[in-house]
Amino acid sequence: MKDNYSFLTPFYNPLTKLIFGEQLMLAKRCFGSNFTGKKILIIGGGDGLDYQVLQENLSGEYWEISQSMLNRAKVNLGKSDLSFHLDFFQAKEGKVFDEVWLHFVLDTMLDKEIESLLGEIRKSLKPEGKIYLADFFVPKNTLHRIIHQAMISFFRLVTKHKRANLPDYEQILGSEGWVKTSEKEFMEGWVKAQEWKLETGI
Ligand SMILES: C[S@@+](CC[C@H](N)C(=O)[O-])C[C@H]1O[C@@H](n2cnc3c(N)ncnc32)[C@H](O)[C@@H]1O
Repeated sequence: MKDNYSFLTPFYNPLTKLIFGEQLMLAKRCFGSNFTGKKILIIGGGDGLDYQVLQENLSGEYWEISQSMLNRAKVNLGKSDLSFHLDFFQAKEGKVFDEVWLHFVLDTMLDKEIESLLGEIRKSLKPEGKIYLADFFVPKNTLHRIIHQAMISFFRLVTKHKRANLPDYEQILGSEGWVKTSEKEFMEGWVKAQEWKLETGI
């Protein structure tokens, strides 16, 4: 599998901290406090550094398609009870999770890929299970719009990022049977963290 993040991996976390401070990390962590006893599925977690303080309570699976990101995650989350997988996530019979974390990963995927991933997630979540999504949404002011456009151009150049726009997360999740149950906004709503449940699980 080609590693599109191999060049960026060493700089990814420092770069995001330089541009966004702690905001992206806060968006990733805003819903979680007690993970004891939970099985968590993390997809596209990158280097895992922002989860490091939580690691002793993290149990479940960590899926990445970048070898360099995964290598770092294994070190950064070495005290967790997560198993690490280099591949596209696929549901496995009998393997179910309490929650799925999709942090700044859906915006790198085409709509069709998101729909297919949601299908695998649906098969892998307990009936009352939740998706925790954190990602970029439509920028609300000119400065954010400029940074956003620069970021997309940078990622298209460096990581072969496939999109020139943002997915309509809410439309896609809604049409796949998911219902938004909570939301928190960061940076005037440019970044949002959301909790989603299956319609049948409410
Ligand atoms: C923009 S980075 C975000 C990393 C991390 N979530 C963060 O917030 O720092 C996107 C990550 O998702 C991974 N990724 C993209 N598509 C994926 C997929 N279908 N399955 C697993 N990982 C994926 C990439 O390899 C990359 O590490």
